[in-house]
Amino acid sequence: MPIIASNFKTNHTRATTASFVKKIDEFLKSNSISSEILVFPTATALDKFETVSNLTVGVQNAYGVQSGSYTGEIGTCQLDEFDIKTILIGHSERRHILGETQESIAKKYEFYSNLGYKIVYCIGEPLEVKEQGLEKTLEYIYEQFVGIDTNYDNLILAYEPVWAIGTGVTATVEDIISVHKVIKEKINKPLLYGGSVKVDNVQEICSLDGVDGALIGTASWKVEDFIQIIENTKDL
Ligand code: PGA
Repeated sequence: MPIIASNFKTNHTRATTASFVKKIDEFLKSNSISSEILVFPTATALDKFETVSNLTVGVQNAYGVQSGSYTGEIGTCQLDEFDIKTILIGHSERRHILGETQESIAKKYEFYSNLGYKIVYCIGEPLEVKEQGLEKTLEYIYEQFVGIDTNYDNLILAYEPVWAIGTGVTATVEDIISVHKVIKEKINKPLLYGGSVKVDNVQEICSLDGVDGALIGTASWKVEDFIQIIENTKDL
């Protein structure tokens, strides 16, 4: 069964998130779909969603603390209020736009893995690295595992080439297969692909060798589209 995740990034309000979650939850239940579905809303839209299906709501980011003086951040005190136990760590936008270093990411990973959170851990190379070939790409990706316990039980990996995220340019089937193969040989964990996954290519991508599902941004934000994505992958 595939793992299908929607990353809202900085989209949707509290109201539209609540409606999205409700619609997906009802759709999964009424169609007895057993894929693992994850939704990552904005922090302001988190809530104690009373879901009845195998839908999990996670947080896009949080600081590695229970509470304290970290202006602008949230910790487990805020997540516990809503029983959130799933977190996205290492997303390329946090690495490249918000300036998170591998050291700070590893610290966050250690904190949340010690608490048993389900972690979706993202890796992926920028265009200038991809252009140097597969060997350099893999070298770059290995650096993103420094300080990360890849034997952690509750770990899902997501390979998301930076040049494919939000650009409409999906990695080729060959690119995806070759990178996934090497990561899978090293780390025996579910591995999602992310980067311009769309309604009409999600099935092909999720059927590839070494691909266990997809982490989707843009194409997942309209609830009808996300339902179609789930529908297109439910029998894989
Ligand atoms: P995208 O984003 O689907 O809009 O390319 C994917 C992601 O960043 O997780």
